Amino acid sequence: MTRTYRIDDTRQTLVLAARNDRLPEVVYWGPRLGADEDLDTLHAAHAIDVTGGMLDENPDLSLCPEASRSFPGQPGLILRSGDGTPLLPKFCFVDVAQDATSLVLTYRDADNRLDLTCRFLSDPATNVITCQTALDADRPVHLHWLAAPVLPGPQQSDEMIDVSGRWCGEFQLSRTAWSPGMRYRENRTGRTGHEHFSGLIVPCRGATNTRGEAYGFHYGWSGGHRMIAEELPDGRRQIQWGHAARMETEAAMHFSTAPLYIAYSDTGLNGCAVAFQRHLRDRIVTWPKPDAPRPVHYNCWEAVYFDHKLPVLKDIAARAAALGAERFVLDDGWFGERDDDTRSLSDWTVDARKYPDGLHPLIDHVHGLGMTFGIWFEPEMINEDSDIHRAHPDWVLGSEDQTLGRQQKALNMALPAVRDYLYDRIAAILSDHQIDYIKWDHNRVLPMPDASQTRGSYALIDRLRADFPQVEIESCASGGGRIDFGILQRTQRVWLSDSNDALERLRIQHDAALFLPMAVTGSHVGPRVCHTSGRTLDISFRAWVAAQRHMGFEMDPRELTDHEASVLKEVTDWWKHHRHWLHKADILRLDSADPAVIAEQQLAQDQSRFVVFAGKAATSAQIVPRPLRLTGLDPDARYRVTLVNRDTATHLSRGAPLLKSDALVVTGTYLMHHGITLPWSFPERMWVLEGEKL
Ligand code: DGJ
Repeated sequence: MTRTYRIDDTRQTLVLAARNDRLPEVVYWGPRLGADEDLDTLHAAHAIDVTGGMLDENPDLSLCPEASRSFPGQPGLILRSGDGTPLLPKFCFVDVAQDATSLVLTYRDADNRLDLTCRFLSDPATNVITCQTALDADRPVHLHWLAAPVLPGPQQSDEMIDVSGRWCGEFQLSRTAWSPGMRYRENRTGRTGHEHFSGLIVPCRGATNTRGEAYGFHYGWSGGHRMIAEELPDGRRQIQWGHAARMETEAAMHFSTAPLYIAYSDTGLNGCAVAFQRHLRDRIVTWPKPDAPRPVHYNCWEAVYFDHKLPVLKDIAARAAALGAERFVLDDGWFGERDDDTRSLSDWTVDARKYPDGLHPLIDHVHGLGMTFGIWFEPEMINEDSDIHRAHPDWVLGSEDQTLGRQQKALNMALPAVRDYLYDRIAAILSDHQIDYIKWDHNRVLPMPDASQTRGSYALIDRLRADFPQVEIESCASGGGRIDFGILQRTQRVWLSDSNDALERLRIQHDAALFLPMAVTGSHVGPRVCHTSGRTLDISFRAWVAAQRHMGFEMDPRELTDHEASVLKEVTDWWKHHRHWLHKADILRLDSADPAVIAEQQLAQDQSRFVVFAGKAATSAQIVPRPLRLTGLDPDARYRVTLVNRDTATHLSRGAPLLKSDALVVTGTYLMHHGITLPWSFPERMWVLEGEKL
C-alpha cells in the first residue's frame, strides 16, 4: 500500500509518499504538477534500483530518516531516555489532517512511546512552504538532535550556496561543491550569529540570479542552528535543519524544531529571494502601523558614542530633522553610568549625570522637530560592574570564570525573575516616555548554546510587544548577529551590519536580499571617513546605498559641508517620494556582466515601474561599462528609462550615451536581452535608473 500527499502553491508542488505505514519521503519537489498527476506512479517511479554492495531494499530518505531502518546517513532524530539509554525510534502512521494549504502527519513509535508530527503549510501568495517537526514522549527524554522535515537535495546541482560572515562583513556567500559525505554547519554561539546565517540556496546547474532553477531554505530560529547537506553513498542527497545539537539541556516530554521555510524557483536565485522577501514582509513581521511609511532614521551612535550631552544631541537632532530624518534613535550611553562599554549594562535607569531632568527634555525637543523617538537597550546582557550584578550574581548565564565578551556576560533568560526584572525596567521607560522604537542589541555570543535562553528572550519580547503594541523593535547584535525569521516575528527591522562603509554595505545588503526585503533592512549614511574601515567615500554614493533599503543617517551632521547636506537631502527626498512602492517591491539581483558592478532592480508589485541601482564596487577590467541586463519585465511592453543622477557624470565621461541627455524608450525584450548601456563612472559611485511601463 502507498500513502501519498501533495502540497501545492501557485508555483511549486511537493509530493510525499510512504510505503505502508512508514514515514513518507519527498518524491517530487519542483514546478507545480497538474491535478491529474498520479502520485502512486510518482512514488513507484522515484524508487532507485538495487545493485551489488547494497542492501536488498533501499532505506527511505524520509521526513525523519531512521537509524533503525539502516539509513546510511545522518538520522533525523537522536535521543536518549531519561536514564541515558539511546532510543532508536521506528515510526508508524497514525493520522493525517489536510486542507487546501496545510498538511499535518502524525506517527507513533509504540515501543518507545514517542509521537512524531510533521507539519506543512503552503502559501499561494508568497510561494514559501513552512515545515516543522515536533516530538512528544509520555515521560521526559533527552534530545540530542531533531531535524525539521528532511528534504532531498536536487540531483541537477553541482554546488550549494550558504552564508557565513563576521562583524562588519555579514552575509558572505560560500559556494561548496556537492561531494560524497556531509557539509555540516553548526552554530554553537547561542545566537543566529554573523558566522552562520541559517540560509541555503541550492542552485541547479547553470542557474544565475535571474535564470534557472534553485531551491531555497531558511531555518527561523535565533539560538543557533545546524545544517547538514549530505550526499549518501548511493548518490541521493539530504538536507537537514534543526537547532544546534544538544541545546535542549533538560529532559522533556515535548520538543519542536523551529519553522523551516523552503521555496522552489524556476526564475533563478531571485525566485527564492522574492519568495523569502515577500513571506518575511507580508507574513512574518507584524507591523504596528502596516500602512505607515517607513520613517527615515537618525541614529546618534557614530556621532557621539557614549558622550551624551544634551545641547549637542539637540543640535544634532535639529540638523538631522532638517535633512529629512523622521525618527531619532538614542543609542547606547543613556543609562546607569555608562561612559564606556565596561559598565552598567542591566542598570536600566536614566543616567542623572547626563540627563539631570531625565530624558523628557531631549524627547520633547525631538518631538518638537516632528520626529519620533527611539531608544537603545541590550536587555539580555550584564556588566560585572553594575548594580544588578552586585545584587544578583546568580542571574548570570554560565560559569563565574567564563570568558567575557565586550566586557559583559549574558543574563539567564530562562529565569522568570530575570525576565520580570527586565520587563519592569523596560516597561517603566516605555510607560514614562513617548517612545515608539527600541533598538534591541545583543553584543556577545553565549557561553554555550541553550534553547531555553532563546525561548526566554522570545518570551520577554512577546510580553513587551503585547503590552506596548505600538512600539517597533530593531534586532541588532553587533550589527547583523541576530537576523532570522524567528526574531523577525517579533521585530520590524534589522541592523544589518555595523559597517556604515557604503562600499561594504553595497555588497552586504545585495547578498542579504536573498532573504531580506527592503522594508526590514536598515541602511544608514555613515560618516565621510568610515569609522570601521577608514575609507573615505563620496556623499552621493553613501546616500544612494542607504536609499536602497530602509534609509537612515548615522554620521554627525555637523561634519557635513553645504554640498554634502544638499546631496543628502536630495536623495532622502527621492527616497521619501518613492518609498510607498519600494516598500512592497521585489529586490531582484541582476546578472551583471561586469564583476565590478553590483546591480539590482527593485520591481514594483504591479510591475508598472522599477528602479535600478548599479553600484560600481571597483574599477572595471575593461574600459567602458558593459550593458546591464534587466529582468522580470514584460517583453512586449515599452518602458521609459531615465538616469536619475545623470548630473553627477564625471568630466572623464566624454561621450554621449543617450541616457546622459535623455530618457530611453525601449521594449522589455531589449532591456532584458541587450541591456542598458550606462555612462562611464568612477568606482565607488552608483548609477540610479528609474523605469516606467508605458
Ligand atoms: C553594537 C551595535 O551594532 C551598534 O550599532 C551600537 O548600538 C553599539 N552596539 C552600542 O553599544
